[in-house]
Amino acid sequence: MRLDKLLSDLGMGTRSEVKRYIRKGFAAVDGVKISDPGFQADPDGQKIFYLGKEVCYQKYAYYMLYKPCGCVTARSDGIHKTVMDYIREERKGLSPAGRLDLDTEGLLLITNDGHLSHELLSPAKHVKKVYEARLDGPVTDLDVKAFREGVEIGDDTPAKPAELSVSEEDASFVRVTVTEGRYHQVKRMFAAVGKQVLFLKRIQMGSLALDPALLPGEYRSLTQREIDELKKIESKRKMRYNTEI
Ligand code: URA
Repeated sequence: MRLDKLLSDLGMGTRSEVKRYIRKGFAAVDGVKISDPGFQADPDGQKIFYLGKEVCYQKYAYYMLYKPCGCVTARSDGIHKTVMDYIREERKGLSPAGRLDLDTEGLLLITNDGHLSHELLSPAKHVKKVYEARLDGPVTDLDVKAFREGVEIGDDTPAKPAELSVSEEDASFVRVTVTEGRYHQVKRMFAAVGKQVLFLKRIQMGSLALDPALLPGEYRSLTQREIDELKKIESKRKMRYNTEI
C-alpha cells in the first residue's frame, strides 16, 4: 500500500500534508528513511515510523457507541446531529451497522468492516437484537403469546416470533428480543397489540452487549474478544455451507 495513503487513512493528516512530511524525511520503514510518498509499504510485515512514532496499522476499526436519543443514524444530515458526530477518530470509511430511530437510544456498532456489517444485518442470519422498552400500559400474557407467535405489522409477512420478558416490578417495562430489523420494527409490533412505545433502548446485537460503563454519546473500541465473537456469525455460516456441499 502507498505510504502516503496508509498514513492519511490512519488520520495522520490529509494526503498532501502527509506527502509533504514524507518528502521532508519524517517517515521510515524498517529503519530506512523513506522520502517517496508512493513507496509501497507492507503494514503487516514492516515497522513504519512517522513523525518519530511507530505507526500501528489496523485495517478495520470497530466502535461501540451508546447512541443518545435525538441524533440520526446516518453519516450526514442537514438538520440533526448524526451518530458520526460523536466519533473523534478518523471517520473515513466508517459507517453505522444498521439503524436506530431518532428517539431510540443504545447500542450501535460503527465500523469500516462492510463484510461484518452485512453479515450482522442480513435477514438470513437472524441475528438477535435485544431492546428495553417502556410502554404506555402494562404488557399482558396475551401480548407475550402474540409476540411469540409473530404479530401482523402491516407488511406482506408477519413479524418473526419475538421473546418478551416483562419486568416483575413494573409490567409496562419489558425486554424484547427480535431477530429482524424492519423499519420501526419494535414500535410497530407493540402498536399491533395496542401499545405505544415511550422509550426504546437497544442493549444487545448478536453477541455484543452495550457496555454499562458507557453514557449516552460515549463510545469505545471493541475488544479483540468482542470482535472474534461477532465474527463467529460468519464462520457458523461457512461451516453450514461446507457441510451442505
Ligand atoms: N425498532 C424500532 O421501532 N425502532 C428502532 O430504532 C429499533 C427497533
